[in-house]
Amino acid sequence: MARSGANCSASTASQSGNASWPRTLVPPLRPRRSRRGGAGGPQATRLQATAHHIPSRLVGTGSSVPQQTLTNRDLEKLVETSDDWISSRTGIRERRVMTPGQNLTEFATEASRRALEMAGVVPEEVDLILLATSSPDDSFGGACLVQGALGATNAAAFDVTAACSGFVVGMITAHNYIQSGQFKTVLVIGADAMSRLVDWTDRNTCILFGDGAGAAVLQAGEENASVDGKKVGVLGYKLRSRGADNGKLTTCYMSGELQSASTASEGAFKIGQGAYESLHMNGSEVFKFAVRAVPEILTAAAENAGVEMADVDHFVLHQANQRILDAASDRLGVDKDKVASNLARYGNTSAASIPLALDETVRAGKVQPGHLIGMAGFGAGLTWGGVFVRWG
Ligand code: ACO
Repeated sequence: MARSGANCSASTASQSGNASWPRTLVPPLRPRRSRRGGAGGPQATRLQATAHHIPSRLVGTGSSVPQQTLTNRDLEKLVETSDDWISSRTGIRERRVMTPGQNLTEFATEASRRALEMAGVVPEEVDLILLATSSPDDSFGGACLVQGALGATNAAAFDVTAACSGFVVGMITAHNYIQSGQFKTVLVIGADAMSRLVDWTDRNTCILFGDGAGAAVLQAGEENASVDGKKVGVLGYKLRSRGADNGKLTTCYMSGELQSASTASEGAFKIGQGAYESLHMNGSEVFKFAVRAVPEILTAAAENAGVEMADVDHFVLHQANQRILDAASDRLGVDKDKVASNLARYGNTSAASIPLALDETVRAGKVQPGHLIGMAGFGAGLTWGGVFVRWG
């Protein structure tokens, strides 16, 4: 198979270079108001507020990770790195990695079972399953595999692909289906086997990632359901994408040509046959993007939700790097104790990271009825999104 360049990257040059962040692409810290009243503008805020008559209540969470632990010391045997470099630059000390023969569906299914159990919902009650993943067991989609394993026979199921923002995108998608009246009970899963996507000889990336799954159940509530007079469920959100910067973080399809076809009948036909590359990332560019994107998207989502940052009880942000979590809490002016962190134990599990951290926060008994939770994801695409949910 001859391979000849990536098909997916908008700007492959930016993967390796020291390209500075173009001024026009730096997201503003404060949300801009569109003159047309577009996304994030006053009209969108009004629309979200008036359409909010069916609350999408968050009623259960669950998670599941592989047993095998790979420590930083273990990685010292694979690539030229050190426990000190990894933990001081990222906060990561170990991660969970699937063994050969294990598959993502089993972890996604177990996380889902736990979330359904907490919600008191049987699989047959689920109307829709959304699986956020970039590494499904079947590239046609992994959601149906989970549906089958759960026995959720009445559910429609499909995948959501938005890398590390996938779970937030899934939550927002579920919320809108519930608000439309089409579905009552939606299972949202974030699951990734990043060990499948990384190049285990590349020290720039392989030290960052791990495997895991988390899930949440959203359910239509009674109109105006509230705790202490405060509306519960999904209160507001904001999503953004910037495809022009796709090249900063990719697992591209590399085009190639089927040799046997072109040589067998010279020039008669050509068949493309390539393969997906391992993960490529311009770490410092993604870092700069993330420290701006998280406060920006949470500020915009808070405005849409009609909540104040000071009133948020828990921030559950994508777990990519402790320095990004710290920078986000500094910029938002929020107490670091309110920002969930499990990076030390799991590393970056992509779409799984937010539901995994959410489930740990819930099961630790920290989340009480009426508590306000702010979630934000960011990553490949580039994509980023924020959502506010009140528990209860
Ligand atoms: N061990 C030892 N040295 C290393 C390693 C390693 N594992 N990796 C890189 N280095 C070296 C580099 O080669 C470089 O050496 P040089 O100065 O001689 O060239 C030096 O360490 C510094 O490298 P930087 O890339 O500048 O290190 P930085 O402080 O930026 O940290 C990191 C790198 C951790 C990747 C950081 O940039 C980061 O966290 N970026 C964000 C990643 C992210 O958030 N991804 C989220 C999205 S994931 C998704 O959507 C799937």
